Amino acid sequence: WSPFVVSAPGKVILFGEHAVVYGKTAVAGSLNLRAYALVTPRDDATVRLVLPDIDIDVHFSTHTLPQIRKEDLEHPAEIESLVTEAITVPVGPGRTAILTFVYLYACLFCSEDRTSGFTITVRSLLPVGAGLGSSAAFNVALSAAMLKLTGQLSDEGSSAGDKQLINDWAFRGEQVAHGTPSGIDNAVATYGGFVRYRKGEEQTDLQSTQALRVLITNTKVPKSTKALVASVRVLRDRHSPIIDGIMDAIHSISTKAANLFGGPDAGDLEVQLQDMIRINHGLLATLGVSHPALERVRDITGTRGMASKLTGAGGGGCALTLIPNGLPSAEVDAAGKELAEEGFQCYETNV
Ligand code: PMV
Repeated sequence: WSPFVVSAPGKVILFGEHAVVYGKTAVAGSLNLRAYALVTPRDDATVRLVLPDIDIDVHFSTHTLPQIRKEDLEHPAEIESLVTEAITVPVGPGRTAILTFVYLYACLFCSEDRTSGFTITVRSLLPVGAGLGSSAAFNVALSAAMLKLTGQLSDEGSSAGDKQLINDWAFRGEQVAHGTPSGIDNAVATYGGFVRYRKGEEQTDLQSTQALRVLITNTKVPKSTKALVASVRVLRDRHSPIIDGIMDAIHSISTKAANLFGGPDAGDLEVQLQDMIRINHGLLATLGVSHPALERVRDITGTRGMASKLTGAGGGGCALTLIPNGLPSAEVDAAGKELAEEGFQCYETNV
């Protein structure tokens, strides 16, 4: 077989993070920042994973990687512990990536001849751990590459069936990496576009609507999605009727925002979205997932006529700011300068 490249985009959650974990609606869009995987054949019974952006270069003999039987696929937790045992590399930021790689390899190649091998090199334009879906883009690219290698894609990954398969396997990679993810990140990285997402339901494509001009600010404060999701779960376990009410309010925001896109009141869209952004952030802050750096972004952009909210898990990571069409560019530039002075990194882009 010949070398090939697959790629998958990052995402930004507009509304509904955290609530989506509890079956509520979220709205997300894909970004023009991608992860790229180059896959090349080798004939020495070795698989090698190279992630130059995070200094990872590991290789495994195909004979020492976990052997999994098809029937074992019904017990993902056991597979995960088998995989964990097989990984002897030191703990570090790349360990999760290696774990999901070995997991997907072990599962997808379970009944395959393991004598040949391959090298997979992944480069990403997405900042890692910033809430822009870098891990989902990685897992979607990996699962597409391995499904192609095992001959399971009927149409180069472009048919609906292929996409569903890629998305399902990427989701299992996300479960290994993040515990109980909702699946929104891998869905956006697989299907692209602009989506209304609800766990267990077919997502609705909102692609026909107008693009939104946004500023994404990476506070560079490290955060753990797994820990933040777990902290919200603890709060919910302690005060379930109160927290469920907050989740329901977030659901109403996502539903309203999704209905606004492309609706008859497009002129009013920005004003309404600004309100939704402010309210959604306030609710997330009450769940304990904001951070002083995110509040700083809100202060700076707020005094320049823009509304911001955290995007993704919070606790640091990125903020999303809507840039209203009529806002003078001097205001946007001044806000960008002040944000850079705080040590934050800004990307002006369209969703
Ligand atoms: O931090 P991110 O961008 O991976 O987003 C996490 C979004 C959550 O709703 C908090 C978790 C999830 O799995 O949906």
